Amino acid sequence: MTSMDGKVALVTGAASGIGRATAIGLARDGATVVLLVRNAARGKQALHDVRAGAPDATVETLECDLASQSSIRDASRRFLAGHDRLDVLVNAAGVFVKEKTLTADGIELTFATNYLAYFLLTNELLPLLRRSAPARVVNVASKYGRTRIDFDDLQKLERPYSYLRSTPQTMLARVLFTQELAIRLEGTGVVVNVVHPGLVAKTRLLRDTRGPFKWITDTFGRTPEQGADTVLWLASAPETATMTGKMFAGRREIRTRQARARTPPYASACGRRARSSRAGPEPASPPPWSSSATTSSSASRRGSTATRRFPLVGVRRPRIGV
Ligand SMILES: NC(=O)c1ccc[n+]([C@@H]2O[C@H](COP(=O)([O-])OP(=O)(O)OC[C@H]3O[C@@H](n4cnc5c(N)ncnc54)[C@H](OP(=O)(O)O)[C@@H]3O)[C@@H](O)[C@H]2O)c1
Repeated sequence: MTSMDGKVALVTGAASGIGRATAIGLARDGATVVLLVRNAARGKQALHDVRAGAPDATVETLECDLASQSSIRDASRRFLAGHDRLDVLVNAAGVFVKEKTLTADGIELTFATNYLAYFLLTNELLPLLRRSAPARVVNVASKYGRTRIDFDDLQKLERPYSYLRSTPQTMLARVLFTQELAIRLEGTGVVVNVVHPGLVAKTRLLRDTRGPFKWITDTFGRTPEQGADTVLWLASAPETATMTGKMFAGRREIRTRQARARTPPYASACGRRARSSRAGPEPASPPPWSSSATTSSSASRRGSTATRRFPLVGVRRPRIGV
């Protein structure tokens, strides 16, 4: 018996790169793997590739255009109709597009695919993840040191489009989403973490681009299998089963600025502050996004109310340093 026998995993971006390497790894470990793919042709390719890497695996496809919210809702409904459990959700799909494109929903494509799809798909499947607990969500993102979320221009439409401007904040948004979701899922048995895979060479991601960035990535980047290693570790290893709200690279935690400062991700922007204030004194347990173990007494030394613990400072333009 292998470690993932009896478990069901859904992997987005499974037709190529890090997602495909992750799907193969989970399939080899014995999981039933559902490959979320853009269309039938990509599905056929993905099935072929994953079966070549894991010949005995149980694999199926789920067609979904992650740039379309109705497609995500529809695919989620189909998944829920066909499966009574979901043990692992890996969000690995993403784009790096040269030209500004609006989706059918009227949303800039990078923001729609790289962030909103992660948010919507995960939320659509969350009830099943909760029922399947212990369950794990792993989001693939990236380090983007000085990036800020501009809440006044989330889609970066106010200035001329550039993928170098639009992509970084979607990576940060994935990190913040992970940290916030971990807080909201505290105690449910569903853990959620985020991975910086490093530069990964010759995936389909940079196919639209040219120039030094592509050259550096393709020349010095790692293999998709190396990029997927930490994703697989978080998705299946016993020692990561209870880790949550953290960012990892090379199986090591990266302390994000929020974790270092003990500031929540975008918690207050999403109403956490108001709920916590109504709830009275802050809980004694440390927040899951903090990696340093703290005691209830050290927590109470930091501040006796949730309002002090979750200040509004930094919400408009949260900072993250990774
Ligand atoms: N490569 C790197 O150096 C690097 C570094 C940091 C972070 N990342 C992140 O790692 C993740 C995986 O990237 P990768 O390098 O493995 O690139 P990749 O090979 O291009 O994988 C991205 C996958 O997302 C899928 N996808 C994109 N838009 C979609 C849509 N609308 N509907 C359904 N599927 C869609 C693609 O499907 P198609 O193949 O059909 O287009 C592709 O399979 C991305 O989220 C990226 O942001 C990559």
